[in-house]
Amino acid sequence: MFKNNGKKTAISIASTACLCLLLVVLIFQNHRFELTEGNTETDATVVSAPVDDVLDNKKGFSAYITKLTRGRREVEKPSRAADTRRDSPAEDITASDIFIAVKTTKKFHQSRLNLLLDTWISRNMQQTYIFTDGEDEELKKRIGSHAINTNCSAAHSRQALSCKMAVEYDKFIESNKKWFCHVDDDNYVNVRTLVKHLSQYTHTQDMYIGKPSLDRPIEATERLGDNKMKPVNFWFATGGAGFCVSHGLALKMSPWASGGHFINTAEKIRLPDDCTIGYIIESVLGVPLTRSNLFHSHLENLQQVSRPDIHKQITLSYGMFENKSNIINLKGVFSVEDDPSRFKSVHCLLHPDTPWCPPLVAF
Ligand SMILES: *[C@@H]1O[C@H](CO)[C@@H](O)[C@H](O)[C@H]1NC(C)=O
Ligand SMILES: *[C@@H]1O[C@H](CO)[C@@H](O)[C@H](O)[C@H]1NC(C)=O
Repeated sequence: MFKNNGKKTAISIASTACLCLLLVVLIFQNHRFELTEGNTETDATVVSAPVDDVLDNKKGFSAYITKLTRGRREVEKPSRAADTRRDSPAEDITASDIFIAVKTTKKFHQSRLNLLLDTWISRNMQQTYIFTDGEDEELKKRIGSHAINTNCSAAHSRQALSCKMAVEYDKFIESNKKWFCHVDDDNYVNVRTLVKHLSQYTHTQDMYIGKPSLDRPIEATERLGDNKMKPVNFWFATGGAGFCVSHGLALKMSPWASGGHFINTAEKIRLPDDCTIGYIIESVLGVPLTRSNLFHSHLENLQQVSRPDIHKQITLSYGMFENKSNIINLKGVFSVEDDPSRFKSVHCLLHPDTPWCPPLVAF
């Protein structure tokens, strides 16, 4: 009886904490837009909690991580089953059929991008494209024409992010590849697993795959012109964990996503780029998001990814909360001091033949 209650409490604490964090993140985003745009009318808010209350309550961040760990087994169960169920390939694809867009900004070329170029991108130069907002000769030397200067603003505003997503979309269509996958500059992509995962579907199907960051659909307001508003609800895959869209579905998105249309669409609902993708796909085209728990963003507790499961994940991430790092739990070949993101250790685990990996791998 007592045990059971404890379990229930853990679940409810975990889900409440999770929801709170997501609200905080959304508020942070909205708050940031206000700051960068000087824009105080944010009618596309998902939340109505007072911003300052939440910002003052910063301790919630660390507490959230601790609580989530406790509630982890309960939370993980259903999704695990969903992710292991499929294995027969529907279409034989290779890595070269995938267009991987990495979104970054010039400020992070040194601190974030080099790590990716040294690790997963080094084995996937042919299908990886880097979307940034400034010229960088060093970057061009490393990846040539796959370094794309979007000419978008370097601000972390809604408009600048949508501007980059619009260029990613157009370049993908131009590439004629079978799958579009978007990731951030703090994601490690296990391309082998990604290929295997996408092979379960065909690229002509309508597929939108990723991980929602909310536990319910986002509520937004669509502006219909002549001052009319329409409430809309839809799920979206969080951009920070990475998501993929099939070629078939991407073509259908064209009237709302190609050329300058993506930015207009984002303005119509006043939401960030990843939400806008969800809006076009779920709300406009009526195609549901296919959830996968193999995508990971820095907004979740990365300690939950267990060592034996690391090679099964599609994306990983890393981040900081109040000077405390949120990283996967891996006693890899590099110490946390030498490899704070754990990406180098992950890379050596997945690809021990990499020249810079220590030859003796003993865990
Ligand atoms: C950005 O501007 C440069 C210089 O005008 C141009 O060559 C390049 O094609 C532009 N990038 C995009 C994605 O339009
Ligand atoms: C984080 O660390 C820096 C430098 O050590 C310190 O100045 C700052 O107060 C710390 N912040 C928090 C929230 O602990």
